[in-house]
Parts: sequence; structure tokens; C-alpha cells
Amino acid sequence: MSIAANITVNAERLWDTIMETARIGATPKGGIKRLTLTDLDRQVRDWFRAACEAAGCTVTIDDMGNMFARRPGRDNTLPPIAIGSHLDTQPTGGKFDGVIGVLSGLEAIRTLNDLQIETNAPIEVVNWTNEEGSRFAPAMLCSGVFAGVFPREFADSREDREGHRFGEELDRIGYRGTETCGAHKFGAHFELHIEQGPILEAEGKTIGIVTGVQGMRWFEVNVTGRESHAGSTPMSLRHDAMVAAARMIVAVSDIARRHGPAGVGTVGLVECRPNSRNVIPGSVFFSIDFRHPEDSAVAAMEDEMRRAVAEIAAADAVEAAVERVWDSPAVRFNDDCIGAVERAAAAQGYPARRIVSGAGHDAAYVARVAPTSMIFVPCEGGLSHNEAEKTEKDQVTAGANVLLRAVLDTDQRFAERERGG
Ligand code: GLV
Ligand code: MN
Ligand code: MN
Repeated sequence: MSIAANITVNAERLWDTIMETARIGATPKGGIKRLTLTDLDRQVRDWFRAACEAAGCTVTIDDMGNMFARRPGRDNTLPPIAIGSHLDTQPTGGKFDGVIGVLSGLEAIRTLNDLQIETNAPIEVVNWTNEEGSRFAPAMLCSGVFAGVFPREFADSREDREGHRFGEELDRIGYRGTETCGAHKFGAHFELHIEQGPILEAEGKTIGIVTGVQGMRWFEVNVTGRESHAGSTPMSLRHDAMVAAARMIVAVSDIARRHGPAGVGTVGLVECRPNSRNVIPGSVFFSIDFRHPEDSAVAAMEDEMRRAVAEIAAADAVEAAVERVWDSPAVRFNDDCIGAVERAAAAQGYPARRIVSGAGHDAAYVARVAPTSMIFVPCEGGLSHNEAEKTEKDQVTAGANVLLRAVLDTDQRFAERERGG
């Protein structure tokens, strides 16, 4: 049995839904600031739950706040085929990162309703909690708990830079559900996302068939010097944590360049204390994000960074402590799910290529517990984690069409397998 060619999503409805939710946390520059577990996150969750229920779904929530909206199938004893991504954003987030993955899932369900298509297995749309890791490190925290990578207590204990705990904030916004995180089983999981890089646009491709995700490690560095007077302390007697941190930050960039072009390294968060213009800084905190498609290269970047930090600390007469707070190894997605995406793109005539993700995604952790793959669509100039992030309506529509078709293809494959076909 083949999937009818006319099964396509409602492009206008999907776009309008994206623009509607973009108002929740809208920034003056056209982006979204909707950090995880804030009141704005609660608002978009309330919206999502209501929209899914209006589409006939039952919404369950687990004890990490992950939301599962279920459309029943013919055989509800089967594990659902899931479509998941995230509705939280960066502080200067765009309208598309994560959002299109969740809302295309909702649109897939609305389309199945319109066309009165009954799937064999149930379909679920998932909103994963704290994908971004901007407020509470690390990223992909609750798909990580779901996949058994992190204990629930670890997630609950994570603190933001103001000292708010993840668990308390989850309770505060009222999204601690009753289901044990990870108890939910999937037959398969698909995630549609913007590429967040320049490759698809440069090659004129509409669809990225994502075969995996590169390896990444996060670190936190605390540099401790000594506060003293900016006017009366000779340069030779200083223990300046800021100057040492600055050299370390340059070292991070140099290390990544040495492992280029595939290796990347970023210091995105810096805090200086006491942050007073006439006090020599006594302590500096900064983050490091290293990524590379080869795990061995990520490990080498870590070794080089640790050596550089120790050498700079010794030379600058400060102390430096490096803590690795996240290690997400490179991921290879499931061949059957990759095949489903490839067939879906070909069936609809979209120019496509295989691609490895530079960004982290919930799918990377879900892949540990269910057959998983992803679909990318281009974004203008490859720009993301930026309020100006831009993807055209046609591109989002193409991604949602491929997503829906890959889900139906998988549902059909599973049904045939059950029948012994
Ligand atoms: C998630 O957005 C990441 O850091 O890749
Ligand atoms: Mn994302
Ligand atoms: Mn992101």
C-alpha cells in the first residue's frame, strides 16, 4: 500500500500557528525570549496543551515536564510514533529553533484529522523540557532524563545563575506531571528542525536528511585571583582573574581552530566579580562549549584546553578550576528512520542531501531508546540563536510534509512487520 501523494499539511495554518506562538515572549527585534520554566514557558505550554486537546489529543505530562499529546491509532497497544522538539528558546532566540518541530507535529495531527486518516499506531507530539540548556545547563536535559542519561535528581538540582533550582521552577509553573520520566515508550521518534548552519542554503537543498549529531562537551571554569585597588596595585603584584580568563578564552578559540574546520569552540557566558571598574577582578566564571563530529577530537580539545588553562593560571598567578558539566557523544541515527525521511523527500520531489547536525537536539538522546532521525530545513544565512533567525513559509511547509510522510511511512512499515509482511 502506498501513501497517497495528496497528503500534505495546511501551509497557512502551520505558519499562522508559528506566528501565533511567537507572540509569547516576542522581542522587539522579532525574536523570542522564552527561557525554560519561566512564566512565558508556562504560557506556551498552556497554549500547546489546549491546542492539542482541541485537535482531539490526550495530553500527559511526566515528572520532568515533558508533554506528550496523543492521537489514538487503530491499535493502541502499540508504542506511539513520536514527533518531538522544544518550545523553550535562547535569551535571543528566533521564531523557529525547536518551535517548528513541535508545531509541525501538531499540524501533522490536524492534517490527519482533516483527511480522516487513521494510523495503525498512535501518534504523539512531544514538547521536551529545557532543550536549550541556556538557563539550566546542560542542554537536552529532559530528553536526557527520558533516555536514562541523567538521573531525575540531577535535573531537579540544576541551578540557574540566580540560584533558582530546576525542580522548584518546574513545580512553580505547575508542570510536574505524574508519569515517571522515561516510562513512556516510542515505536520511533522524528524531529523537524532548522539546520542552524549554512550548508542547505548554499547547496540549494530544501531538505536535510539528518544522519547524526556531532559530539559536544561543556565545561565551567572558575578563575580565582585577588581583588585589589586598580590605582595603587603595581602591574607586577596583581592576581587579575580577568586577564587570565581572557587569555584562556583566546586559547579555547585557538584550540578549536587547530581542530578546524570541523572543530568549534565557544565561550558564551562570562561573569566577573566584583565587576567594579576600579577593582582588579578577583574571580571570573566562564563556560566552554567544544564540538566535533569525532569524539576523539572532542577529547583532544578537552586535553589541550586543560593544559592551556593550567599554564595560563600558573603564569598569571591565579587559581583555575575546570569542571566538565556535559559530555554528549556523537550520535548516528537509525537507518530505517533515515530511510523513511529520504523516501519522503524523494516522493515529494524536494531537493535533499544527507547532513550531520552541528547543533544538539532532543533526538540525539531519544535515539538511545527508540529508532530516531531528523529532518532539517534551511535558515537564511545559516543564522540561528539570533532574533533575526529566518526560514521561509515554503521551507517550513516542505519540512512538515516530509515529517508527516516519514511518520506515515514508518507506521505502515511497522504495520506490515506486524502482519508478518
Ligand atoms: C542547542 O541549541 C545546542 O546548543 O546545540
Ligand atoms: Mn533547537
Ligand atoms: Mn537552540
